[in-house]
Amino acid sequence: MKQFFRPSANLFAVISIFVSLYAVAGIFWGLAILDRANWTRRVNLPVEQPIPFSHQLHAGSLGMDCRYCHASAAISPYGNIPPSDTCVTCHHEIKRNSALLAPLWESVNNDTPIPWVKVHDLADFAYFNHSVHLTAGMGCTNCHGQVNEMPVVWKVHDMTMGWCLDCHRNPEKNIRPREEVWNMEYEFPPPAQQAVLGAQLVNEYGIDKSVLANCSICHR
Ligand code: HEC
Ligand code: HEC
Ligand code: HEC
Ligand code: HEC
Ligand code: HEC
Repeated sequence: MKQFFRPSANLFAVISIFVSLYAVAGIFWGLAILDRANWTRRVNLPVEQPIPFSHQLHAGSLGMDCRYCHASAAISPYGNIPPSDTCVTCHHEIKRNSALLAPLWESVNNDTPIPWVKVHDLADFAYFNHSVHLTAGMGCTNCHGQVNEMPVVWKVHDMTMGWCLDCHRNPEKNIRPREEVWNMEYEFPPPAQQAVLGAQLVNEYGIDKSVLANCSICHR
């Protein structure tokens, strides 16, 4: 090959290898940023649903307790979405003929679930458990924000590993008395008082901070 290329061609080859390495690295870097960007993670973007079910109306104005529909969060790993029957309890009379409720009657008549779109959806390789967090004094608002004020639900946190770890390293900043976990109006005391209360609750609830950042806690 040597006779076909001038010595400067070697330099050119080396440069083009470097340029393409950087280009490839750049693409991965870009993808990584995009993956963490709020836009791709749909943070603060309302999610379109088959029925525009309003938490603002039902849990806010009508004052329904979250447990009316999501009680299993307290006792199981999952938050669960209520079955159509839960809606029928009221809507067989209220707004029965509303066009917005057509998918509800379709679901009841065909005995199929309403195809709700998941708002929060962790990667399968990460393990999460609701009841453990509720027992540890972590409230719905810590992770989901003021759902009772949302006309349709959106994510308020990106739910990346960094976000999980931020709390796992400092649970005392986010902890509240257990009986307040469903309370959407709970107000945390000012930081200095929270530091004292937080340390006390972490101790009382037997939370072992030293293991919470271990990979095997969430990747099992
Ligand atoms: C009348 C039943 C009902 C009540 C009461 C209710 N929800 Fe919901 N919730 C639903 C339904 C149906 C969905 C699925 C549709 C959607 O995401 O909007 C849902 C979705 C959610 C989601 C998003 C789930 C996902 O896809 O990731 C969260 C978080 C949530 N609810 C929290 C709450 C909280 C907190 C309360 C109390 C303030 C509450 N809900 C009260 C019925 C209810
Ligand atoms: C405890 C009773 C109750 C339950 C349970 C309930 N709703 Fe409602 N819903 C109401 C009331 C009351 C209204 C307001 C009616 C009005 O504006 O006059 C309403 C309004 C609505 C509307 C707006 C209808 C329109 O035309 O303005 C939709 C959509 C709706 N609900 C969907 C649902 C879905 C889906 C579920 C089940 C996840 C559900 N509701 C569960 C009581 C309930
Ligand atoms: C420590 C953070 C945290 C707390 C506290 C928390 N959640 Fe969640 N929630 C999550 C995560 C993470 C997911 C997504 C889980 C997944 O995709 O596996 C989720 C998913 C959900 C879902 C959707 C479940 C499904 O089957 O798709 C509902 C509903 C929900 N949460 C309701 C609640 C309610 C109600 C409370 C308060 C009692 C609450 N969550 C407290 C983090 C939390
Ligand atoms: C607001 C604070 C907070 C956030 C956010 C949070 N956690 Fe936790 N998590 C805790 C605390 C506190 C414990 C310790 C519970 C105990 O030891 O009783 C815990 C425990 C756990 C456990 C151990 C459960 C078991 O069975 O022992 C897992 C798994 C876990 N968290 C996963 C996650 C994942 C995944 C995320 C992010 C999607 C997350 N957590 C976000 C506070 C949080
Ligand atoms: C508190 C829970 C938690 C702990 C502890 C944790 N992870 Fe993760 N990890 C997650 C979650 C949640 C995701 C998925 C985030 C997403 O959806 O992008 C993740 C994603 C990852 C990924 C995929 C790449 C990425 O960044 O999305 C790798 C690799 C990983 N974790 C390795 C580790 C290692 C190594 C450790 C121990 C040093 C560890 N994790 C500890 C929750 C955790």
